[in-house]
Amino acid sequence: MKGVERFKEHIRALGLNIPCDDERCLDQHSPLRQMLVKEKLVIGNRIAVQPMEGWDGFADGNPSEHTLRRWRRFGRSGAKLIWGGEAVAVSHEGRANPNQLLAAEHTTAGLSHLRTVLVEEHRRVTGSDHGLMLGLQLTHSGRFSRPNSSQQGEPGILYHHPILDRRMKLPEDYPVLTDGEIRSIVEDFHRAALLAWKLGFDFVDVKHCHGYLGHEFLSAHTREGPYGGTFENRTRFLREVVEGIRSVAPGLGIAVRFSAFDTVPFRPNPERAPNGKPQPGIPDIPASLIPYRWGFGLDPFHPTEWDLSEPILFLSLLEQLNIRLVNVTAGSPYYSPHIQRPALFPPSDGYQPPQDPLIDVGRQMEMTRLLKQRFPNLIFVGSAYTYLQDFLPYVAQAVVREGWVDMVGLGRMVLTYPELLWEASGGQPIQHKRICRTFSDCTTAPRNGLPSGCYPLDDYYKDSDFGERLKFLKKG
Ligand SMILES: Cc1cc2nc3c(=O)[nH]c(=O)nc-3n(C[C@H](O)[C@H](O)[C@H](O)COP(=O)(O)O)c2cc1C
Ligand code: SF4
Repeated sequence: MKGVERFKEHIRALGLNIPCDDERCLDQHSPLRQMLVKEKLVIGNRIAVQPMEGWDGFADGNPSEHTLRRWRRFGRSGAKLIWGGEAVAVSHEGRANPNQLLAAEHTTAGLSHLRTVLVEEHRRVTGSDHGLMLGLQLTHSGRFSRPNSSQQGEPGILYHHPILDRRMKLPEDYPVLTDGEIRSIVEDFHRAALLAWKLGFDFVDVKHCHGYLGHEFLSAHTREGPYGGTFENRTRFLREVVEGIRSVAPGLGIAVRFSAFDTVPFRPNPERAPNGKPQPGIPDIPASLIPYRWGFGLDPFHPTEWDLSEPILFLSLLEQLNIRLVNVTAGSPYYSPHIQRPALFPPSDGYQPPQDPLIDVGRQMEMTRLLKQRFPNLIFVGSAYTYLQDFLPYVAQAVVREGWVDMVGLGRMVLTYPELLWEASGGQPIQHKRICRTFSDCTTAPRNGLPSGCYPLDDYYKDSDFGERLKFLKKG
């Protein structure tokens, strides 16, 4: 699609409300270059790097040279908010893959090195680290834990989910995590946060998104006992984690990334179009499961639609807990990638987009606008802008100026073209060949046990042994 005007026509044709400027604003005139100051928080501009899980650490949870390269590139983005770089597991059992980073005594030097290379590169590119905020995203992968083999899940579940259990082939008597095991995971979060504090990270994110453990608590309606059922019980994990962090690491900032809405799991449509092409993915839900009792931020009677009433309660709770920094996202990469990371091309285990991916970008933006309006004192980082591709800089500056969001978070775009927003707001030409085209190889590769990275557009991966292996896997 050539030109901003043509893009705006397309937005109008889809009936979407997405603000988009005609021209790029530059330097001090760009909303993206405005400093954000709230109470004691100072963030030097409005560009954020989203966390993107790595699959390239060592088996013991230490970073490798590939990890260091990714973090250096996060620093090169010019973003003044780095949301963790990537999810870092609080325990070996909670790793999403056998090469995920781990927060532990033996990885202290490695994590510290990651922080150092990022800050150095950031200073080199922007001239100063003033206003740079750097956090670690702390995670337990819960249902999606694969600590020992990328081919073998070792799920830690909070309740039985009628669709996901079937997909994961979990027997009916598969044990749920006990309350005692949950308390020990809470302590793992405290230990990991203390380590992050000692290493000089500004904040930790108590991750509550994408189907991992924190997010599963929010939908644990059917769990009995202190961690399930009522809203108060489903948020007990968060409160216990926060309370402990405040006592062991009193100077450390706490932030939360959460999936503010969800949908039921989707699956490929088995039928083909008359021309043989695959059809768009479909919801995988029999009528017998309505009302749907296994989601958070969705309408149980129409579970592909959002209901923001509990996410609003959740944000009120964050305010009460004196948590100011929130990062909103949606769904899960495992069962609803189209709402989480809108893409034209699905990952190898995904499905064709059910609708124009721009509609899913617009939904996350609209959700963020509504929540920001309701909670003006919280700092919101928005997600899922990468599919905007060449028009991202025009939309990003418009949403910040119009107060829809405080910070524009970049995910996939950072893997291919980390400097996009920094350079675009500094008056440099946009390098169209480096724009992420949402080919999803950065998801397909790790699903097949290869490191995360942009295989089609980053020569580092394309020309490597990993690139050859991915080509081979995709062929056969
Ligand atoms: C390869 C890959 C890994 C990701 N890992 C994480 C993660 O560790 N933690 C997280 O909160 N989100 C993760 N995400 C989601 C992104 O942070 C982001 O929300 C998503 O890609 C949509 O933003 P985008 O359109 O800018 O890519 C990951 C996304 C990708 C593509
Ligand atoms: S592999 Fe590269 S182009 Fe494809 S979605 Fe990921 S970052 Fe974008």
